[in-house]
Amino acid sequence: MENLVEKVETAATWITAQSKFKPEIGLILGSGLSSVGEEIEDVEVFPYEDIPGFLRSTVEGHLGRLMIGKLQGRVVLALQGRFHRFEGYSMPQLTLPIRVIRQLGIEILITTNASGAINENYRPGEILLMADHLNLTGDNPLIGPNCDAFRTRFPDLSEAFSRRLRDKVKRIAAAEGIELQEGVYAGLVGPSFETPAEIRALRVLGADAVGFSAVPEVITAVHCGLQVLGLSCLTNMGAGMQSNPLTHEETLDVATAASRKLIDLLKAILPQL
Ligand code: HPA
Repeated sequence: MENLVEKVETAATWITAQSKFKPEIGLILGSGLSSVGEEIEDVEVFPYEDIPGFLRSTVEGHLGRLMIGKLQGRVVLALQGRFHRFEGYSMPQLTLPIRVIRQLGIEILITTNASGAINENYRPGEILLMADHLNLTGDNPLIGPNCDAFRTRFPDLSEAFSRRLRDKVKRIAAAEGIELQEGVYAGLVGPSFETPAEIRALRVLGADAVGFSAVPEVITAVHCGLQVLGLSCLTNMGAGMQSNPLTHEETLDVATAASRKLIDLLKAILPQL
């Protein structure tokens, strides 16, 4: 754990030294949503491999760079490309980027991703505001000696996704005429998509959508005191709910097509956070 704390400090110190900004809001850009990064102005770009102690992303559609700059007048730090358990990273390793974000003094984390719809009222291309999550990874990023530097051994997750931020986003989306679903995100490890039986089981468990990210990040973020907002692009109906097989290409195509909506929403939200 000492080693991890050192890595967080090394990466954060390096970023602080390289950047002319003091970032206020962290943004994780998921599958097909990296174009949000193109909207950042006066941008500084740091490839992950240049940041001492940082991780590298290996998934197609995930670029692998940290960007700092201005979006709607707010200084944002965006991770263009995230890290997943299925890439072989351990859960403790997945805590690193989130803790670096916190170490830089950021208080709000917006995590975005792609997910499959389980709720039959949802449609591909819609945006889901995460109200809560189900951690179905069978694992937890906080297993191991507690990182006391980052607070309590037993963090409370009764409001993992900030109610204050969610209420704000719903108000803003309504005012802007952006349709939004709100529901429970089930986080699995992947990388195989679910079976139709698993989708039915997840529905019984109370999941509205399913994906392979967010959960380790959200638990870590709450642990280190970040307020979290989770936005997901519903890219497909869950396995067995649509006639065609699921592919990563479809996920990327739909997320890319829907990214305009997500960018508009983010731009509307940022000045009011
Ligand atoms: N399952 C898991 N992750 C996903 C899906 C899905 O159907 N769609 C996009 N990400």
